[in-house]
Amino acid sequence: MKRICVFASGSGSNFQAIVEAVRSKKIKGARVVLLVVDRKDAYVRVRAERLEIPQVFVNPLDFLSRRDYEKHLLKVLRQEKIDIVVLAGYMRILSPYFVRNFKNKILNIHPALLPAFKGTHAIERAYKYGVKVTGVTVHFVDDKVDHGPIILQEPVKVDDGDTLEDLERKIHKVEHRLYPQAINLLLKNKLKLRGRKVFIRGG
Ligand code: GRF
Repeated sequence: MKRICVFASGSGSNFQAIVEAVRSKKIKGARVVLLVVDRKDAYVRVRAERLEIPQVFVNPLDFLSRRDYEKHLLKVLRQEKIDIVVLAGYMRILSPYFVRNFKNKILNIHPALLPAFKGTHAIERAYKYGVKVTGVTVHFVDDKVDHGPIILQEPVKVDDGDTLEDLERKIHKVEHRLYPQAINLLLKNKLKLRGRKVFIRGG
């Protein structure tokens, strides 16, 4: 049984989708054993409580440097025997030091078709830009922001009558399906990395 740890900072709808995917066996051979949060009042904490998933709030302000904060996180992950780390709306940049310690075992989801609209507020920026198609990307985390090798991508159409809220709803719906799918592929050892390219075995 692989042990998943989710890192989050906000609402946690992806966290919940992942926990539910485990429970309904859409993600097989794994359990979400820990939620790590960096914000005391993040709504994801309420979800974790309801779903009965253990959580730790680690306040970055309690540490003298990012290195110390990350050292502490790595210690927690080691103690909990975590196999993979899933970033789900985690609003912090992990340093090369942290990433090296979990090489090719950290995933992130981005609400746009990377490399377009990297960074925060991607849905809104894409909407305001007037794109006709945007989407969702799940990728490995490397030491640059929203940059690592792409595992899955799915387009989402922007229809003429769509409000920003409509588009957000469409994107989140895809996210909640695509993230469990990508996690499952990683857990089943179906992902083969060659440089920036990710090949899906038997896919
Ligand atoms: C998602 O749109 C995800 O793509 C981005 O942050 C958002 C988190 O939403 N990285 P939630 O907290 O999972 O609801």
